[in-house]
Formats: sequence, C-alpha cells, structure tokens
Amino acid sequence: MRIILIGYGVVGQSLTDIFLQRKIENLRNYGFNPKVVAITDRGGAAINIKGLDLKRIQSIKKREGTVAADSVFGHRQMSGQDIIQSIEAEIMIEATSTNITTGEPGISNIKTAFNTGKHVVTTNKGPLALSFPTLIELAEHNKVLLRFSGTVGGGTPILEFAKKCLEGDRIKEIHGILNGTTNYILTEMAEKKVTFEKALESAQKLGYAETNPAMDIDGLDSAAKVVIIGNWIMNKKFTLKDVDIIGIRDITLNALEIASKKGKRIKLIGSIDGKPTVAPKEIERNDPLCVNGVLNAVTFVSEYAGRETIIGRGAGGIETASAVLRDLLDIKHHLANKILS
Ligand SMILES: NC(=O)c1ccc[n+]([C@@H]2O[C@H](COP(=O)([O-])OP(=O)(O)OC[C@H]3O[C@@H](n4cnc5c(N)ncnc54)[C@H](OP(=O)(O)O)[C@@H]3O)[C@@H](O)[C@H]2O)c1
Repeated sequence: MRIILIGYGVVGQSLTDIFLQRKIENLRNYGFNPKVVAITDRGGAAINIKGLDLKRIQSIKKREGTVAADSVFGHRQMSGQDIIQSIEAEIMIEATSTNITTGEPGISNIKTAFNTGKHVVTTNKGPLALSFPTLIELAEHNKVLLRFSGTVGGGTPILEFAKKCLEGDRIKEIHGILNGTTNYILTEMAEKKVTFEKALESAQKLGYAETNPAMDIDGLDSAAKVVIIGNWIMNKKFTLKDVDIIGIRDITLNALEIASKKGKRIKLIGSIDGKPTVAPKEIERNDPLCVNGVLNAVTFVSEYAGRETIIGRGAGGIETASAVLRDLLDIKHHLANKILS
C-alpha cells in the first residue's frame, strides 16, 4: 500500500515510529505492508517511489527541521498539493495543523487526493468541521474512502464503538467530554480550588494547552468533534456554524463550589440531542461521563442498548497515530472486500 504523508509533526512522526516498530507484526497479522512514498512538511518534501527509508527521514527531520533537507530524496520547492497531484499512491494521510477558520491546507489536500483517486485518512479536524457533508459526498462521487478515527478521542475508538458495536441500534442522543485541555482546567479548579487563569497556566506548562488556547477553552475543538460525531454516527448534515458554542472562560470557583455542594461537577459537554451544542453543564459526580484530568468520555443513548459510556485519553501523538493505523487497516479490509463506503 503506497502512502503519501502530508504533515510530519507529532502525529506524522509517531506514525512512522509505529510503522518501524510494528513492521513484522503488521505484515504477519494483517498482510499490511505500508510503503511511504512521500512525506511533506512546511519546508518541502521527500520522495522515493520505491518507499522512503523512514529511519533516515526521521533523523533528517530531527536534525535539519525539514524532510526536504534529504540530499538525495529532498525537494524544497514541492508543496503538499504538488505531491498529491504528481505522485502515485493509494492513500493520502492528512496530518497538517488544524485551521478552524479556513480548513486549509487540509480541505484542498483532501479534495485533490479524492480527485486523483486516493483514499484519505485525516487526523486534521478542520476540514471535517467546516465541510463534512461536502467531503463525504465528494469521496462517494470519486469512489474513494475517507477515514478520521484520530479526530475524535485520539486513540480511543469512540467513532468505531458507535459505528460498529452499536450497528443496527438507533442512537438517540450523544453527550461527551470531548476536550482534554478544558477537562484538565475544570478538574484543577474543582479539586485544587485554583482560578481559571492559574489552571490554564498549569495546563500550558504541562503541554496540554497551546500558547493560544482559544480553540480549546472557547469550545471550538469540542464543537468540531460534535460535527464529526453527528454527521458520521447520527447521519445528520451540519457543520461548525450550526453548533451553539459556549466555552469555559467565564466559569468561576463559586459556580464550581455551588455544583459541588449538590454532588455535581461542571464539565464542558458537547451534546447532540436536538440542536448540537457545546456548553459547560452540571453533571452528577457519579455519572460515568464525569471523568477527570485530560480524559475524554462519551455517552451514547441508544434505543435498545440504553446508555453506554466510552472513556479514554483524548489526544497524544502515539495514541492518534494508532488511530491512523486502525483506519489504514480498515481501508485495506474494505478494498480487499471491494466495499466502498
Ligand atoms: N497531537 C495530537 O495529540 C493530536 C490528536 C488528534 C488530532 N491531532 C491533529 O492532527 C494534526 C497533526 O497534529 P500534530 O500534533 O502532528 O501537529 P504538529 O506537530 O503541529 O505538525 C503539523 C505538521 O503539519 C505541517 N504543516 C503545518 N501547516 C502546514 C502547511 N500550511 N503546509 C504544509 N505543511 C504544514 C507542519 O510542518 P513543519 O514540521 O515544517 O512545521 C508539521 O509537519 C493536527 O490537525 C491536529 O489537530 C493531533
């Protein structure tokens, strides 16, 4: 299976770690033999149609800051778009930074991959948050597959649980803690009685929050995941602009204290129960959804199976890369069985 990897940051490099570590097992257990023919970052690309030496590329990236510095296989002038258009491969993996305003360069990369007959695995949720219904339609039109397990829950198989384990049932409502950074901040505030600003500072020190944490604390990251879950699991057709969003900036220690006296916790909850929403809500402390720290949790309320909650770490490079591997194996399975949906 020939792969183009667009974006070689934390997730991309973790994926090549997994390919190197699991090479023999993947081949023996799944007949899966990934051949990475091109990798790009902001500095350009490295290309070898016979398959790149991933150890060599990893050390060049660490040493030089760009894969394009490879003296034999590097191309400083080539962008992701050039690569997707000109290099033959079965799969394009999109792992560039999320842009929640334009979706770029992710949207263009995904569309070009579809138009050139490539299946797509993305960990970048920007394109899905802004254009999910269009991208699914375009994939179907071009008879290719789009997979995105790593966009919700990192390595925790939230989407697969609902799609595969609850198949045949009807999911009526979904409620989830979908962002580890905000959950960490709210947990710190509730347990250590520190202000929002102090808890945010601690999240930034530990690397849970970005220098510009707006996407997390203003609820946009959770809302992007609500869009993905709603479209993929509940067959709804909506995008980010249809989600009512309230973040956690205005949560006070006093509000948390009042909730605590009632045996409750305030959590940032993404819900699809009628209109899609993201907002801080009080939930019972003994509700399975009420997880702490950086954990994510999602409760599915379905017609026959009732309430089920899946809990796990919501991010992390290696965790998210493991979700990409699952997606690649899923695509391989679909292709072997000639199922294109
Ligand atoms: N890390 C996680 O735990 C996690 C979990 C779930 C989903 N995700 C998503 O997965 C994606 C990748 O995450 P990450 O943590 O690997 O991010 P990252 O470390 O910032 O890496 C992003 C990569 O994309 C490249 N890139 C960024 N903008 C680009 C542009 N305009 N054109 C070409 N290349 C560009 C960067 O190039 P340079 O290397 O040259 O800077 C870098 O290689 C993001 O969308 C993120 O939201 C991440």
